[in-house]
Formats: sequence, C-alpha cells, structure tokens
Amino acid sequence: MTTKASVWPRLVTCLSSLKLYLTALCLVATVFVLLQICSFQITQRSLSLPPALLTYLKHQPDQTYENKTAYLVEKLRESVTFLPLKDIRFSNKPLEGHTWFMSSLFDNQTRGEAQYQEFPSDSSKGRLLCLKGIDEHDGAWNYYALAWPEALPTNAILQEGLTFVSYNHYDYGNLWHGLTAAVPFVSWSLRNRCEKPQKWVLYHWGELRFWMGHWVSEILRATYGQEPEFLHFVDENKPVCFEKAVVMRHNEAGMSRERRLEVFDHVRCKVRNYCNITSAETSRPRIGMTLLLRTGARSFKNESVVINVFKKECERVDGCVLNVSYSDNLTFCDQVELMKKTDVLVSPHGAHMTNLFLMDRNSSVMEFFPKGWLKLAGVGQRVFQWGANWSGMRHEGTWHDPVGETCQFADTDRRCMSLVFKNAMIGYNETYFGEWARLVLGKVNIRKKESPEHNKGYGSVDVCPQC
Ligand SMILES: *[C@@H]1O[C@H](CO)[C@@H](O)[C@H](O)[C@H]1NC(C)=O
Ligand SMILES: *[C@@H]1O[C@H](CO)[C@@H](O)[C@H](O)[C@H]1NC(C)=O
Ligand SMILES: *[C@@H]1O[C@H](CO)[C@@H](O)[C@H](O)[C@H]1NC(C)=O
Ligand SMILES: *[C@@H]1O[C@H](CO)[C@@H](O)[C@H](O)[C@H]1NC(C)=O
Ligand SMILES: *[C@@H]1O[C@H](CO)[C@@H](O)[C@H](O)[C@H]1NC(C)=O
Ligand SMILES: *[C@@H]1O[C@H](CO)[C@@H](O)[C@H](O)[C@H]1NC(C)=O
Ligand SMILES: *[C@@H]1O[C@H](CO)[C@@H](O)[C@H](O)[C@H]1NC(C)=O
Ligand SMILES: *[C@@H]1O[C@H](CO)[C@@H](O)[C@H](O)[C@H]1NC(C)=O
Ligand SMILES: *[C@@H]1O[C@H](CO)[C@@H](O)[C@H](O)[C@H]1NC(C)=O
Repeated sequence: MTTKASVWPRLVTCLSSLKLYLTALCLVATVFVLLQICSFQITQRSLSLPPALLTYLKHQPDQTYENKTAYLVEKLRESVTFLPLKDIRFSNKPLEGHTWFMSSLFDNQTRGEAQYQEFPSDSSKGRLLCLKGIDEHDGAWNYYALAWPEALPTNAILQEGLTFVSYNHYDYGNLWHGLTAAVPFVSWSLRNRCEKPQKWVLYHWGELRFWMGHWVSEILRATYGQEPEFLHFVDENKPVCFEKAVVMRHNEAGMSRERRLEVFDHVRCKVRNYCNITSAETSRPRIGMTLLLRTGARSFKNESVVINVFKKECERVDGCVLNVSYSDNLTFCDQVELMKKTDVLVSPHGAHMTNLFLMDRNSSVMEFFPKGWLKLAGVGQRVFQWGANWSGMRHEGTWHDPVGETCQFADTDRRCMSLVFKNAMIGYNETYFGEWARLVLGKVNIRKKESPEHNKGYGSVDVCPQC
C-alpha cells in the first residue's frame, strides 16, 4: 500500500512537465511500477495457500474429467474405508451392545425381534455391506466397509441376491449353538415374505468358517428347501459387496417368546415334511417315552438299570411305549421321526437334546447331569430348560448325580469341571427315577385324556403355514 500511495504524487509531477521525453519516461516508469505492484500482490496471495490446496487446484475436475459427477463418484469409490471385523478394543466385552464384531455399526432393535442389521437400509443410508479378507484364524485380519452401490471399491465383486452373514461366538458344528445362530435368520425370513438366502457367510470371532454340522445343515436345508451355500472368499484383495445382506451377531437375543415359538413351530413343520413323516396318528403310540442315550462322556454308568426303571414305569401306563435309542446312530430323519413319536424325552445333558424342539408342543423333558455340574457348570447347563421353554415344551426338571469321581482339588474348584466332571458318567437312584417318571407320565396321561386332539395339533399338518 505504501508503494501504491507514493505512485500518484510522482505521476502528477510527471504530467505537469512539458517536456515530451520526460513524459514518456514517466509513463514507462509508471507502467513498470504498476506491474511491480500487480505481480507483488499475486505472489503474496499464492504464498499464503497451503501446498496441498495448490496441488488440488492444479487437478481441477474440468482438467482431468469432462464430467464432475464421474469425478466425484471416483472420489467416493476411493474413500471406502475397510475396518477390521474383530475390534480387539472390545475383547473384554465381546458380546455386549455393538459387540467386537463390526463394532462401528449398531443393530436394529425392533421390539420382540432378534437384533439385526440390514444392508442397504435407511440406517446404512443406502450403502451396501462389503467384506474382505480370507483369514480363518484371526478376525482382526478380515474387514468390512459400507459403500454406495454406484461407488463400490475398485476390484470389488458384487454378490447378487440376499446373503445371510452370521456371527457365532461358539461354533456351527454343535447342534445347540448352530441352531441358535440359525433361528434369528429364520425369524427374519418369516417377517420378509419367506425370502431365502442365496449365500451364507459364517464368522466365528471374525474368522471365516465354511462349514456347519450335518444336523444344522439339514435343518436349514429343510427350512429353506435348498442346501445352504457358503460364500468362499478367494482373493484377499478383492472385496465382496452384497446386493442385500442381513447380519445377525446376537443369536436369538431380543426375540420374544411368541417369536421363538413361531420359528420353532415353522422349522418343526418344515423338517417333518422334508423327512416325509406322515401326519397319520396310527404311526405313533398314545404316549411315547424315549430314552435318548449317549456313549462315552455323560453316559449312564449302568444303562440296564436305568432302562429298566423307565420301562417299568411306562408299562404301568395305558398305551405307553418306551423307545431306547443312541443319538449317535440315528440319521437326521430318524431323529425327527423319533421325536415325533416322543411325549417324554429322558436324556443325559448334551447337544443331542437340541432335538427336543422337534417333539409335538407341550411334550416333556427329563434331564440328567453328572456330579459337580450343579455348582460348577454355570448358567450354560440350563440351555435345554430355555430351549424347552422357547419351543413350547415342558422341562420337568433335572437330576444331578450326588456321587461320582473325586477331584484332586476341592469339589467347588473350577479346575475340577474340565478335569473331572465335564465328561464324567452318570449314576442312578432307582427310587428317585421311578417316582419322577411316575409323576411325569401321570401328567402326560391326564393331558392326553383332556385333549385327545393334542397329537393332531400344530406340526402334524402337511402344509406349513406362512411359507
Ligand atoms: C457423467 O458421469 C456420470 C457417472 O459416470 C454418468 O452417469 C453421466 O451420464 C455423465 N454425464 C454426462 C453428461 O456425460
Ligand atoms: C428397523 O426395522 C424396522 C422394521 O423392519 C424398520 O421400519 C426401521 O426402519 C428399521 N430401522 C433402522 C434404523 O434401520
Ligand atoms: C421324501 O419323498 C420324496 C418323494 O417321494 C423323495 O424324493 C425324497 O427323497 C424323500 N425324502 C426323504 C428325506 O426321504
Ligand atoms: C448294573 O447294575 C446291576 C444291578 O445292580 C448289576 O447286576 C450289573 O452288573 C450292573 N452293570 C454294570 C455294567 O455295572
Ligand atoms: C447304536 O450304538 C450303540 C452304541 O454305540 C451300539 O451298541 C449299537 O449296536 C448301535 N445300534 C445300531 C442299530 O447300530
Ligand atoms: C425307536 O425309534 C427309532 C427311530 O424312529 C426306530 O428306528 C426304532 O425301531 C425304535 N425302536 C423301538 C424299540 O421301537
Ligand atoms: C417360559 O418362561 C416364561 C418366562 O420366563 C414363563 O412365563 C413361562 O411360563 C415359561 N413357559 C413354560 C412352558 O415353561
Ligand atoms: C434316592 O432318592 C430317594 C428319593 O428321592 C431319596 O430319599 C434317597 O436318599 C436317594 N438315595 C441316595 C443314595 O441318594
Ligand atoms: C399345551 O398346553 C396348554 C396348557 O395346558 C394348552 O392351553 C395348549 O392348548 C396346549 N397346546 C397344544 C398344542 O396342545
């Protein structure tokens, strides 16, 4: 500014001069000074800009792209950010709230429904779910991201149709854990015009799994009328984005009892149809009592005594037939058929008991445990009490063996559970078993007399409602 102010007096002085050469000289000098001012100002402005912005301005869209939309879409595509599927910051509370699996995302908590996430949806603002990574040992090396369908990451493969993405904290081989992972998806389908998944993606702690136990696969095959197909990620650098994805990471948590009953009724019906089990009542006894036995861990120490106690009590009741079977050597459909004929399931605690939901509603369950479980096994030992309740059965109680192997530590020491009690065998108390069986059979007998139509109830129809 000071430079500029000093120009004008000089200019006036020049013009007042009469001499032509001086005038010319002045004009040249003035133009020179003005140019200096101009260039100084430009330099000053340029210097005050951050270098990053300068680089940006050099790459203006109009220079590289003819079309501004295409330019922005490209930027959007490059801004898709993948985060680790397993967030180890939450490893001390992996199952709480948003969990450690896809921890930046929140579930839809519709009352009475399992907590779930759907993509694309309002809450994802129309973005699709993309998954990346092939790790089967550490979920922190597999990734997730959200991307708009118009701007999927470079390299991405689009998986068409509906994909179910399951998080299971336990495993997909165990009947109980596999079933509780499947239940919320079936519930979602029932609420969404019975929509079937094209593919499944299975995670355990964020690690990929490509396999389900045979029993669990059969349940899904029967329910959806097609073999479950598991998506195989082959290239760790190629994300897969899903046209439509439903994510479940809390198993059946949040579902109301009505919703659970509805799902179990539906699966029971589907599974019976799948196994071609007739609804004819002539093919089952009036009262079926089934001793479902195991071999090895948690089997009865003296099976013949146990069988005899229940045989004797069954024979006292009109129309009662006892079936003694080993879960290990029954095919899937054998199990379904046996459960259809069962009103009272008598069994040592174990995953094979998951079959209980395949009985007609209101059927009874009697469960047996080895010594030590009552004090040391925690709430997990009650899964079949919950399972019975959720599927409309009656859990008639448990028997915990008071005697058994001695543990080198105190009987209340946690170490005894894994060392001795977990897989111990189960003894017997003839008096107790006899009285208990008589009590349960008595109740079943009354129920059957009161509602002879019971057996023709839900689950014995050929066409499953809803789907
Ligand atoms: C600009 O690019 C977008 C995205 O690629 C495309 O959909 C649109 O048709 C283009 N418009 C013109 C005028 O080329
Ligand atoms: C949650 O689910 C309900 C019912 O399907 C739906 O109406 C709602 O928009 C969903 N909320 C979010 C945030 O996605
Ligand atoms: C059920 O019957 C159908 C038709 O007869 C048959 O194709 C199918 O294999 C049977 N399913 C089973 C599990 O036996
Ligand atoms: C089972 O108990 C009966 C009666 O006490 C006994 O005769 C039999 O030997 C026992 N069997 C086994 C395998 O321990
Ligand atoms: C079933 O399994 C038990 C024990 O594993 C075995 O003793 C029995 O022979 C098997 N029964 C059949 C019909 O295969
Ligand atoms: C028990 O049920 C199974 C499966 O339905 C059947 O194969 C077996 O013959 C039955 N056993 C008896 C003794 O009725
Ligand atoms: C199941 O549990 C609920 C609440 O925990 C209880 O009200 C209901 O009576 C139970 N039903 C059966 C069949 O045990
Ligand atoms: C067996 O059960 C009966 C009836 O509940 C009980 O009185 C008896 O003490 C039990 N016997 C043993 C050895 O626990
Ligand atoms: C089960 O038992 C309850 C209570 O006794 C009864 O109201 C209901 O109708 C029964 N359900 C079936 C399917 O028999």
